Amino acid sequence: MIRSVVRGFGASLPKRVMTNSELEEKVDTSDEWIVQRTGIRQRYIAGEGETTASLGEAAARAALANAGLTAADLDVIILATSTPDNTFPATAVNIQNRLGMHHGAAFDVQAVCSGFIYAVTTADAYIRGGLAKRVLVIGAETFSRILDWNDRTTCVLFGDGAGAIILEAQEGKGTTADRGVLTTQLRSDGAHREKLYVDGGPSTTGTVGHLRMEGREVFKHAVGMITDVIEAAFEATGTTADDLDWLVPHQANRRIIDGSAKKLGIPLEKVVVTVDLHGNTSAASIPLALSVAASDGRIKKGDLVLLEAMGGGFTWGSVLLRW
Ligand code: UT7
Repeated sequence: MIRSVVRGFGASLPKRVMTNSELEEKVDTSDEWIVQRTGIRQRYIAGEGETTASLGEAAARAALANAGLTAADLDVIILATSTPDNTFPATAVNIQNRLGMHHGAAFDVQAVCSGFIYAVTTADAYIRGGLAKRVLVIGAETFSRILDWNDRTTCVLFGDGAGAIILEAQEGKGTTADRGVLTTQLRSDGAHREKLYVDGGPSTTGTVGHLRMEGREVFKHAVGMITDVIEAAFEATGTTADDLDWLVPHQANRRIIDGSAKKLGIPLEKVVVTVDLHGNTSAASIPLALSVAASDGRIKKGDLVLLEAMGGGFTWGSVLLRW
């Protein structure tokens, strides 16, 4: 049986760090409120010349170096983003060109904060379906460019960054002892689309628009939706929370992360948390967190790792993989 195995990982952050105390000067907020309600202490903000494509390219180059590969070895690039450089072409083709890759295919996937889960699921389907041997999966965002910097209920929450993994076809035995992606679970429900959205777009206002969120409403649904897709991953593979080495959640809010882990009986020592450092970087948050925990030696070859996310749409999903 063909499995999609992680061959390399990498990440990239903008140069500029913005602390909570800097935000106190922009809007009526406080470091204490932000830390207590979200766990966020700082975020990175893209500066001049830094875009989703440049951050994505840097993360991709880091992943290629980590894998000991070059762009010539890739078949497909899938970029998860909701903050493309342009409405079209896809930012993935910009990254493809920046990497000097002129073969294969590159495209964007848009599922907001669940984007990386959707992109990994797509890559896994390409690999298992025999359409590609190596897929570069990137999550890259510049949410700072769609924030309303006068709206304290949203501007304190988000940040910019990029992370990437390379998935490679490898033969497995078809058991949960295999390395690679073991199951993917995707969900969406457009009935919730107005709880977290951008109030602009090419076919409506002809403008880019700004992020709008009913935070409390999103929060209310988050833990239930996350638990749903994690339980579905356990059921599909016959695994339990006890088998997990690491939970790498989407990094939106420390309270959501802790609440979900507690509900599932996953000890907090097994949860990778980077929301304090990066804020919510939407589709970039999971690959950024993976990169941090794999670089510092926490996530090791053979570890059972569970990824999950929930966000605008609503979309939500999980990926269970053996690193
Ligand atoms: O990644 C995609 C998914 N997104 C999420 O998962 C976000 C989910 N939502 C959340 O994380 C939380 O709902 C927030 C962090 C956005 C807000 O936390 P909360 O505990 O739900 O606060 P709240 O919205 O109920 O607001 C509590 C109070 C309000 O004041 P009143 O009405 O009680 O007087 C807000 O106006 O906090 C006020 N407030 C702030 N105060 C200081 C809202 N934003 C701020 C702020 N600084 N930045």
